[in-house]
Amino acid sequence: MLLKPPFQKPQITIKVLFLQIISPVDAASFNSALQEYWGMQNIYLTKTARQALWLILSSIKPEPGSEVIVSSFTPVVVPLAAMKAGCQPVFCDVIQDGFVMSPEDAEKKVTKKTIAIVMPYSFGCFSDIEKFTALARKHNLILIEDCAQTLKGKYKDKYIGFNADFGIWSFGISKNIGSLNGGAFWYHDRHKKGVEKAMAKFLLNNKPKHNIFDHFRASGVPFINTRFGYWLLRPIIDYYQRGRETSRSIGYDTAEFDSALTNFEAALCHRQLNRYDHVYQRRKMNYQIYENELKNLVKFPSQPFEFEPDYLYAPILVEQQVRARLLNQFQNTLVSDINFAYINELDVLKGISFNTPNRLRVQDEYLLLTLHHSDKLTRKIARQLKLAIIKFSK
Ligand SMILES: Cc1ncc(COP(=O)(O)O)c(C=O)c1O
Repeated sequence: MLLKPPFQKPQITIKVLFLQIISPVDAASFNSALQEYWGMQNIYLTKTARQALWLILSSIKPEPGSEVIVSSFTPVVVPLAAMKAGCQPVFCDVIQDGFVMSPEDAEKKVTKKTIAIVMPYSFGCFSDIEKFTALARKHNLILIEDCAQTLKGKYKDKYIGFNADFGIWSFGISKNIGSLNGGAFWYHDRHKKGVEKAMAKFLLNNKPKHNIFDHFRASGVPFINTRFGYWLLRPIIDYYQRGRETSRSIGYDTAEFDSALTNFEAALCHRQLNRYDHVYQRRKMNYQIYENELKNLVKFPSQPFEFEPDYLYAPILVEQQVRARLLNQFQNTLVSDINFAYINELDVLKGISFNTPNRLRVQDEYLLLTLHHSDKLTRKIARQLKLAIIKFSK
């Protein structure tokens, strides 16, 4: 399918952009909007979630060689953020029957040098919060909830991200609200002094800049990942992006780490947040459509995890041979490979192993279902998948 754009579907609509250009919302109000949304204070806005993590770790002034436990199933930018803060990432395996981080393996990885654990909610699946908070308390470690892929998840009637020392979020193009750039972090009161100092230093050196390039890039977003737009506009965007960008050249000296969120980016995040409840309802409904159609055929993340279907994708567990045949038939159309961002980037961290046993197994077992289509298309996809799974299971 040469004309089908890969992976990310833009979530910023032409209407949102148009409104933003003719009547810009005040960027500072995005922080207040988040505080209201979550009913929490102590929020800082950042360019990205990786920047939030780096700033958090810097704010606790780690000794050189301090270790930070991260999941072996997480984007490479997470260990890079730890390294940028002068820490050594230590990879923890995922649980036996899923890809959330294993608290038992995390405990085995604790040493005298460990200062923090970063606990992700991958694809909206919950890690064992109770066990991780107990572990952090026992060893006097800082626990950071990585909510880059979950915005709506609640634990005991409270939004996740506020259960430990820090929470981080991402509002990037491939995340829940799907803006251009954007991230945030929350800190517990006990970290107030360190955080305020680190943020004051950062913002002194990185004034939020207004850049015409942002408008150009933003204006392209709703058009780029369309069937034709992608192939026409992508080379132009890439050309202008060369030299300043970032996500292609993965490393920790990039704009995603080293520049502040601009007003334009913050304002777009705000507009996307305003639309999010509506978007979330659609994802939830699409997830139910898949569940109804495919129950008994595949395993859904709600068994055995707690799960919130508010990310763009929901993982399902399929028998290995069936999975291979499904991928062969539907690659880039109905389902996508879970490995997308996690495998390609491994080269960057040569010498540090991501290859924990459960993680290797898990990456060959799951598929991602897209939740962001219309309900009509989702029904069609679910029916096609059902027929194919029945056929391939024989
Ligand atoms: C689990 C997780 N943590 C952190 C990040 C980093 O987010 P950002 O791209 O905003 O730095 C991502 C996204 O790539 C993610 O999926």
